[in-house]
Amino acid sequence: MIPLSPLEALPLGITRSEIERLFQPFVKVDDELWKLRFARRNRKIWRQYLKRRLFGWHRHSQRLKAAVAREYGNEWLSIDHRSYSLDAAPEKHSLWQWGSQRSLASNRGGTRVRQLLLVRTIELLQPRRVLEVGCGNGINLLLLAGRFPEIAFTGIDLTQEGPAAARRVQQQNDLLPPYLQAFAPVQLHDPAAFKRVTFQTGDATALPFAPKSFDLVITVLALEQMERIRDQALNEIARVSAGHAFMIEPFREANASGIARRYVVARDYLRARVSDLPQHGMQPLWATTDMPQEAFLKAAAVLAKVEGTSA
Ligand SMILES: C[S@@+](CC[C@H](N)C(=O)[O-])C[C@H]1O[C@@H](n2cnc3c(N)ncnc32)[C@H](O)[C@@H]1O
Repeated sequence: MIPLSPLEALPLGITRSEIERLFQPFVKVDDELWKLRFARRNRKIWRQYLKRRLFGWHRHSQRLKAAVAREYGNEWLSIDHRSYSLDAAPEKHSLWQWGSQRSLASNRGGTRVRQLLLVRTIELLQPRRVLEVGCGNGINLLLLAGRFPEIAFTGIDLTQEGPAAARRVQQQNDLLPPYLQAFAPVQLHDPAAFKRVTFQTGDATALPFAPKSFDLVITVLALEQMERIRDQALNEIARVSAGHAFMIEPFREANASGIARRYVVARDYLRARVSDLPQHGMQPLWATTDMPQEAFLKAAAVLAKVEGTSA
């Protein structure tokens, strides 16, 4: 079994202070409010958890593909990428934790931190073709393209609305808008490269790509939504990758006990283990949960090598 490593022990060269700097613009510190909201949420999760334990077999309480498509279709229909501005008023603050540090923060801070992990992993692996499965509104790839203009990026999402929102950014701007350039955690080398990313609609259980079409396949809080189809999705990731998969997802090792475990069960989020990956043809190389995390749903960043590939 692969251990969860401290961030600074990974071959990514990321420091704690670098993460703190990126996350800080999205943070509000109010410890009393944090504790109050945590207690309230804990009670609610207990109720949801017990209900699921009693009625979990019922289709209405399962996170099925049609419901996910509806939820995210609505979310991406109204997305405005200006909400990633460093000075945008946060839509809402949620409960975050990193070791003993507690904060109320907007989820944009998490996106920015995860982007740094993606950048450093790509620098390490130097892929030529990268696919993001469950790319949502395209935020990760729009930024990565500017840092790595020589890489061919493709994003695929279950919804029509996510890729459409990403394409709107491409069509309405010649250069990546300044608020997105400022949001990027590292300097961009080509602010026009975002226009070359391909965004399309498609299902993770039947990726419309030939075997080994990409050197690296990434997922960011997307498998999270795929508990009911997780085996097919993981098999597909391994099939289309000619090298590695990098997944930042709530694997079970990250939410093994306590309130996080109850939340995952209550909401029917991903329950796959990092140690399940070899069943899908992927060998985990390293994993970490050492980053700012939502208090109830923690993600593990996992790099896996796809079996039978030489990269
Ligand atoms: C929480 S969002 C994450 C979006 C993006 N990766 C990010 O980091 O902002 C989850 C995304 O996964 C997508 N998704 C869920 N099930 C999917 C499936 N079966 N195939 C492709 N995408 C899926 C959803 O449509 C949604 O856009």
